[in-house]
Amino acid sequence: MTRIMPLKLGVLASGRGSNFEALQESIEAGAVPAVIKVVIADKPQAPVLEKAAARGIESCYINPGQFAGRQAYEQELARVCVEYGVELVVLAGYMGILGDTFINKFPLRVINIHPALLPSFSGLHAHRQAIEYGVRFSGCTVHFVDLGVDTGPIILQQTVPVLPEDDEDSLAERILREEHILLPQAVKLIAQGRVAVEGRRVTILAEEEN
Ligand code: GRF
Repeated sequence: MTRIMPLKLGVLASGRGSNFEALQESIEAGAVPAVIKVVIADKPQAPVLEKAAARGIESCYINPGQFAGRQAYEQELARVCVEYGVELVVLAGYMGILGDTFINKFPLRVINIHPALLPSFSGLHAHRQAIEYGVRFSGCTVHFVDLGVDTGPIILQQTVPVLPEDDEDSLAERILREEHILLPQAVKLIAQGRVAVEGRRVTILAEEEN
């Protein structure tokens, strides 16, 4: 059955917020049946906070350091998401690591965008890792978040060539252009109820199978 209500999203981010903007633009263009209810940053100066405000989207900074421990921080994150009725949490350049306190509250309801073709080059400095390894292709991955680092079931991937003259910045720029397409696409599929997960394997259902 086709979903009529837009999927309620919470975006977690730590910095620039270009993926947040790309997602919001796709939503505004009517391409993704979703609504961003709240943007949460774990850095007070994260430009994503201003970008959210400029687009009239509620946002807040939650300081992980103000809590007794990771569990308490994650409880607060989850509380805010629940308060906003969030149905899908989108990590869009969120640099923190989320543990079971948060993840278990949103089973298969947290997705992340990573700037490499997982399982290659997980963790930090994915572009540098790809260049140093000498791969001819890298790309980006949208995946469900589990308790590992960049290990959850893969929803979508897009390849990007790595050119001989590339440095981290030029590769990051080329990959970012694809991220801005891939993340909204993944959210759209989830919002349409077309993403089925069995163990590690994700199946994208055709529109009519739905
Ligand atoms: C992106 O490259 C994303 O893949 C990675 O962090 C970067 C965030 O960029 N996880 P932005 O804040 O969305 O502009």
